[in-house]
Amino acid sequence: MISRDTIDTILSTIRIEEVIGDFVTLRRRGVNLIGLCPFHNEKTPSFTVSPAKGIYKCFGCGKAGNGVGFIMEHEHFSFPEALRYLANKYQIEIEEEIQTAEMQEQISEREALFNLNQFALDFFEKTLHTAEEGKAIGLSYLKERGIREDIIRKFRLGYSPSTWDALTANAREHGYSMELLIKSGLTLQKDERAYDRFHSRVIFPIQGISGKVIGFGGRILTSEKNRPKYVNSPESEIYNKSKSLYGIYFARNTISSKNNCYLVEGYTDVISLHQAGIENVVASSGTSLTHEQIRMILRFTKQITILYDGDPAGIKASFRGIDMIVEEGMDVKIVLFPDGEDPDSYARNHHPSEVESFITTHADNFILFKARLLLEETQGDPIKKANLVKEIVHTISLIPDGISRALYIKECSALLNVSEQILMNEVRKILRNKLKKQLPEVEKPEDIGWMEAVSSPSQEELDLNSDIYQERELIRQLLLYGQEEITLLRTDEKGKEEPFPVRVADFIIIDIVRDELEFESLLYRKIFTEFVEARERNEIPDDKYFKLHSDPEIAHTAIDLMVSPYELSENWEKNNILIDEEPKHIKELVLSAMLSFKAKKLDKIITAKQKQIREITDPGEVELLLAELRNLKVSNIQINKELGRIITK
Ligand code: CTP
Ligand code: MN
Repeated sequence: MISRDTIDTILSTIRIEEVIGDFVTLRRRGVNLIGLCPFHNEKTPSFTVSPAKGIYKCFGCGKAGNGVGFIMEHEHFSFPEALRYLANKYQIEIEEEIQTAEMQEQISEREALFNLNQFALDFFEKTLHTAEEGKAIGLSYLKERGIREDIIRKFRLGYSPSTWDALTANAREHGYSMELLIKSGLTLQKDERAYDRFHSRVIFPIQGISGKVIGFGGRILTSEKNRPKYVNSPESEIYNKSKSLYGIYFARNTISSKNNCYLVEGYTDVISLHQAGIENVVASSGTSLTHEQIRMILRFTKQITILYDGDPAGIKASFRGIDMIVEEGMDVKIVLFPDGEDPDSYARNHHPSEVESFITTHADNFILFKARLLLEETQGDPIKKANLVKEIVHTISLIPDGISRALYIKECSALLNVSEQILMNEVRKILRNKLKKQLPEVEKPEDIGWMEAVSSPSQEELDLNSDIYQERELIRQLLLYGQEEITLLRTDEKGKEEPFPVRVADFIIIDIVRDELEFESLLYRKIFTEFVEARERNEIPDDKYFKLHSDPEIAHTAIDLMVSPYELSENWEKNNILIDEEPKHIKELVLSAMLSFKAKKLDKIITAKQKQIREITDPGEVELLLAELRNLKVSNIQINKELGRIITK
């Protein structure tokens, strides 16, 4: 357990713009910073960071939080994992509190897997550099391939011994459970026997975007035909193949500064290019890119250059995959390496300066490249040519940006010798059809995580007729002004009115508990319960208490409520006047929120009773219910009168 003191130090040290800046390219706009939201796919930035408030909010998908929350969400870390990450970033020493057995059990499986992977990484690396077998077989192989010592160290390459269970046995001795070893994929079990998945292989650790080891790839060193050249970690709680890119951790800053990302196929391509001084490179590990991978790259740049080991058949097969990258709004270039060469072999056989210049001189725009390649094949055949035009028009229609589309139409018209007008019409036809199909659907962010599940209420929910609105407003006041004191009037025994001061939180809590009113929204109820419990300890939770709440749903809801929707928006200046006004009228705000809440609850109770009366037949019971109803209505009228008095005052 990280001590409270350490947590406070971390929180007061971190700067949100630096924390987020490691993952998102931010630009200044007024007092805030904006960038492309890493949590949903967008082309114009609606992700806003407020350094002054220490929070972020995306006006596109609704995600919001503070720096710790961002790391939790983005890296899929638990709260302690996020704190450790930040402590490491800011070089803050972590003070641990002694853990109970129960606490230990709570360490998440994810954390356990990360720990185990780190252990395995150290084991493989140590074996490569110090064990006899590691040096004689693993290290000498890498050296023979021309990989330099510093690069071996940088990528933390390793070696897994030929003994069947060297790693498994070692990890067991260090207290890692068999169950965890199997979950991580490091250990395989067959007929009661456990053995290392990667035995007798050179190890390529796969790091996530923040540098943590999420999995491994292992290359065989012999040329046995019946064993695969590479084996990789299976998917796990921490390793999702379609969401990871080999090398992203080392590449991300350079991708951003060079504003271009090189895409290669394999581990060794990434490593050799690094050795040649080219660092903005990632590998898809032998498959075509997924949407998630493209989005990961899009956070840093819109330009991608695919480095291909040139074989036209292979390239044609990958056209569809590349279309998908175009569709995401990226500018795609393609570089063909000479026959039989991949980036790795080319880099090994040429001087680093030649590699760079080869890539830049051979980079060809993907769409024009595709058009040219297909044109070569038509050889004047009109039917083939018609198909080619269709194919190219299809790709152009995928480009989200209209101006780029127009430019490509112009270029392809010249290249294919087809009029611009014809190409334009075809593109329009496709776009119109697509639009028709899309119309009934409202665009919604994919990837529903916990944040989405609790994101801001919809317009419908905010409809004044729904009692979520009243609940939300009351909780908002509790969060924002709970500590404030307001002065109410009360009547003393002699019937004289006297002022008495009360804290907002006390006022709201006492009133609601006394009247036995309930919150319908589960989240608001949870927040309210926290207040009630805190009050029993004589405390009033402050904003920090909720922002750092261990239940991310609660933290997110609270932050969402504390940040006015206008506050971070572009019309900040304009709307800020209103927000500035609010604290001057706390008493009126709280009273009217309280009364509106009660009025709404009463409304509901009355409606329910009326329904009940219609359904029962026993006259005595009806009489009783009617009396109850009259009382309720009287209270309701009183409340509404009171409300009117406050509002019109
Ligand atoms: N790959 C894999 N499993 C295989 C073969 C390939 O996962 N059986 C993935 C690896 O990520 C590999 C990439 O596909 O790096 C490209 O494959 P390949 O070109 O065959 O390997 P290289 O990286 O070129 O490896 P080497 O140069 O050592 O042969
Ligand atoms: Mn190769």
